[in-house]
Amino acid sequence: MKGIILAGGRATRLRPLTKITSKQLLPVYNKPMIFYPINTLVQAGIKDILIIIAPEYAGHFLNLLGSGKDFGAKFSYEIQEEPRGLADAFLVGENFINGDNVTMILGDNIFDHDFSEDIRNFTSGGHIFAKKVPDPERYGVVKFDENMNAVDVQEKPKEFMSEYAVTGIYIFDQRASEFARNVKPSERGEIEIPDLYRQYLERGELKVSILDCLWEDAGTFDSLLRVQNYWARKNGVSV
Ligand code: TTP
Repeated sequence: MKGIILAGGRATRLRPLTKITSKQLLPVYNKPMIFYPINTLVQAGIKDILIIIAPEYAGHFLNLLGSGKDFGAKFSYEIQEEPRGLADAFLVGENFINGDNVTMILGDNIFDHDFSEDIRNFTSGGHIFAKKVPDPERYGVVKFDENMNAVDVQEKPKEFMSEYAVTGIYIFDQRASEFARNVKPSERGEIEIPDLYRQYLERGELKVSILDCLWEDAGTFDSLLRVQNYWARKNGVSV
């Protein structure tokens, strides 16, 4: 199992914090944001990790993270020239994946969960992780059957379909890059990840696990503050 961290993007919602740096380098309590997804992968036993970054801040990531030795891992880097969408991780990362299974995590998604078992048990197909949210219309959502097979996925549904939001960690087999190539750009010009994992769903090969842990996409001022407070409290600080 290889790992990819997608840490490029524009981070427009966090301006002006991100005018002169990358979102994933901002502090989350006592660490740069990207340390959290790195730790999530390393804790799950994934040591061979590709970090995809935007050209503007590539040097900063290299200075900060280096070879990966400090994390007990091996890091490779790729530049994503333009933020073409989340599914682009599997095209930019195709040579790195090289026919293996891969876990992709978004560089601004923070979990307090150990994924070791899911990763150990993965054999083939696709596996996504969902969490119950009060405002599903803001997310990509998934509907699943009693065997935890996905039966429908939708991006920001206008009408209620499911209260389970799809979080930013995905496990795919070696077909991920091929499926990413089939995805046509959306109205906003991005290749969207639900259009990739829907191809596993259509083949009856998309599994869902429900998370009941902290999960934040730290891409807004409010979620960034919430997640900072969460880790401060975990470190014994009263905030
Ligand atoms: P988003 O939060 O969807 O996008 P963004 O980070 O550009 O922020 P904003 O919407 O405020 O402009 O991205 C989720 C994660 O994926 C984040 O860590 C950035 C990363 N990303 C890429 O690396 N490349 C991409 O093409 C996109 C769309 C996102």
